[in-house]
Amino acid sequence: MEELKERIKSEGVIASQQVLKLDAILNHQVDPALTMDMGRAFASRFASEQVTKVVTVESSGIAVAFAVALELGVPMVFARRKKTLLADPDSYVERVPSFTKGIVTDLMLPKRFIKKEDRILLIDDIIANGDAARGLVKIIHSGEATLVGAGIVVEKCFQSGAQSLRDQGIRVESLVRIQSLGEDGVVFAD
Ligand code: G4P
Ligand code: NA
Ligand code: NA
Repeated sequence: MEELKERIKSEGVIASQQVLKLDAILNHQVDPALTMDMGRAFASRFASEQVTKVVTVESSGIAVAFAVALELGVPMVFARRKKTLLADPDSYVERVPSFTKGIVTDLMLPKRFIKKEDRILLIDDIIANGDAARGLVKIIHSGEATLVGAGIVVEKCFQSGAQSLRDQGIRVESLVRIQSLGEDGVVFAD
């Protein structure tokens, strides 16, 4: 997605060789028109998959997942991140470490929102080590639903998250892929 690359070049802030701040387009401010373009891009890539539900994690995945769900005409569901959770028989819970925050949180999603018949498209804003995404995959498997694939806005290729999903046989579609961050600025993979 060329437009997104341009916006990342002009508005992204390199915080370290591992972390790119995208507060201006993903993590604080949201550009509705750009976000709808992302939604259309994912919807067209997964158009033949008969998706019944879009699933993401709060908070930054929500806007993009909403745009995808609107385009596909299906509901969007987001897992919440909780500090620690008592076992809840009505919810799926997966414990995941967080790359940027350095803490462990529980992803929580009520069981009634994942049905066996569902064909789920997972959406995430930025994938690093993929802990959050793998947690969501486990939740989708716990619900015995079908995972049709994962749509990622920004894939950081130098971290292993997207590859680890592909290694599980999951179709991963990224809108932009970043090869490296550093003195040369943001270097895209393609
Ligand atoms: P992972 O999904 O790839 O394992 O990453 P992890 O859970 O460890 O990431 C924790 C949070 O850090 C996620 O947001 C993820 O989007 C974000 N993140 C990872 N790498 C970067 C980066 O280079 N830049 C930015 N801006 N964020 C990054 P979250 O905790 O779910 O927070 P929220 O923004 O969705 O509320
Ligand atoms: Na995030
Ligand atoms: Na996220």
